[in-house]
Amino acid sequence: MKASAPAKIILFGEHAVVYKRHAVVTAINLRCYAEAKKSSKIKIISPLGTTGLDFEVHPYVSYAIKRFSEIKPINGVEIRIESEIPIASGLGSSAAVTVAVLKALDGEFEAGLSDEDIFELARKVELDVQGIGSGTDPFIATFGGAWLIPDRKPIKIGNIKLLVINTGESSITAEMVKKVAELRERHPEVIDRIFDAIDAIALKSVDALKRGDITTLSELFFLNQCMLKALGVSTSKIDELVDRLAELGISAKITGAGGGGCVIGIGDDESIEKAMKDFDGFLVEAGAEGVRFEEEGV
Ligand code: PMV
Repeated sequence: MKASAPAKIILFGEHAVVYKRHAVVTAINLRCYAEAKKSSKIKIISPLGTTGLDFEVHPYVSYAIKRFSEIKPINGVEIRIESEIPIASGLGSSAAVTVAVLKALDGEFEAGLSDEDIFELARKVELDVQGIGSGTDPFIATFGGAWLIPDRKPIKIGNIKLLVINTGESSITAEMVKKVAELRERHPEVIDRIFDAIDAIALKSVDALKRGDITTLSELFFLNQCMLKALGVSTSKIDELVDRLAELGISAKITGAGGGGCVIGIGDDESIEKAMKDFDGFLVEAGAEGVRFEEEGV
């Protein structure tokens, strides 16, 4: 059985959302595909290599198989992964692969899991691998759409062009989340206020997103990026990219954990076109469909 799940971008609120503040997140039109076939042993085939159950090379897939087996014991399975989502780039590739594998296993072994069950399992896998996390990525990979988190309020995104540029530096979520946790331990009274500011930015963005109000959103992107820099998750490469984009009229911020990965930007059509050329950026569509079965052999 074959299944797929979408990538996501966090428009506002990364890191603060781990501490129960608001975030605005949308699924986007890049997908990860997983195929599961009954077998006598466990084999995982992906762009990262071919392994058995391997918690080093394939931690998310391996924990997904382990967690699924707790619900429906299996003797063996061959899992094949193909993905359009760049790895370690802040676009939620780990959650997408986890959710796609769980759905494919569900179909192949007829476990009858609901989307809510799949989300709960993927949430456990996130914690198995990362130890900490808000559950935002597995939620979006499962349900798709665009949401205000943690309220689970669906939101509308007007006609906005969303530009994504990959810095090419890898973004390791667990490392960045730990870095912020350590900073907060040293300066709780400061960091909690930064989280509150991010919370206000995320809440304020909901209306501006609905209206497609580029002017307000540009200011909110700028403010959110300043807060992320204060949390220590920007890099000199990201700072430089954000500055150069600003010169073109694009307001940009990190999306996801930072330390590398992708930045997202908005601006008028002319600026976006120029930035796409100069920085090898691409446009993404918000509100993509969540996890689903796929025709086999696609
Ligand atoms: O970099 P990503 O796509 O894994 O996003 C991480 C988002 C954080 O807020 C930093 C962590 C989390 O679990 O929400």
